Amino acid sequence: MPLDYPTNQRLVVLGQTQSGKSQYNKTVLVPDIERYIIWDIKYEYSGGKVVHTIPELKSAVTTKGCLKIIYQPILGTNRIIEFRKVCKFIILYIRGFTFIVDEVQMVAPNNKIPEEFKEIITTGAALGIGCIALSQRPQLFDKTIMTQAEHVLVFFLSSKDLEYVEHYFDKGISWVKTAPKYSYVYYHAGVVETNPPLNL
Ligand SMILES: Nc1ncnc2c1ncn2[C@@H]1O[C@H](COP(=O)(O)OP(=O)(O)O)[C@@H](O)[C@H]1O
Ligand SMILES: [Mg+2]
Repeated sequence: MPLDYPTNQRLVVLGQTQSGKSQYNKTVLVPDIERYIIWDIKYEYSGGKVVHTIPELKSAVTTKGCLKIIYQPILGTNRIIEFRKVCKFIILYIRGFTFIVDEVQMVAPNNKIPEEFKEIITTGAALGIGCIALSQRPQLFDKTIMTQAEHVLVFFLSSKDLEYVEHYFDKGISWVKTAPKYSYVYYHAGVVETNPPLNL
């Protein structure tokens, strides 16, 4: 079923590693988004303009007018510093975009979320900036990401993680514990919807 996800809102996608988060993002979410910047720390996305540095990002957006951008930070650079620069650039220059952050626990750890990213999450809707945050470790990334999300997708998670996530959303999400591989739950506006695996 299609998600009722306006691209200026916030969506959090949870699931243990290999549970199907990124695949869902690539095949269902991203193709439906007209303008996006993906923070792609694992170099796994394609289909957009790939950039590796802030000057390349600036040139792609402001000179070339690219609308689909994949930011792959150069290995060995300080990811947090780089991520903060990307967030700052978005706040200053970008409107009407969705910022997609895969492996968000790596750049926004619990209680150490960069201020710039927090700003995108808390005030982004007013600026026309949406956010999709994906993570395999719900207990490790900053709680702001959970509390601000209007939409949640949950793929398979350990019992401990599910217990933690239920606390923020709804007990019904624990359906994924016994569901077939790659199944997922969509939670929005107080409603839990269970879904079979994507048919790839
Ligand atoms: N619905 C599905 N049916 C079959 N294979 C899938 C499905 N979803 C994901 N996969 C495969 O499982 C592997 C892990 O998926 P991925 O989305 O990368 O996991 P995650 O991002 O949660 O770590 C990939 O090889 C992917 O192609
Ligand atoms: Mg992934």
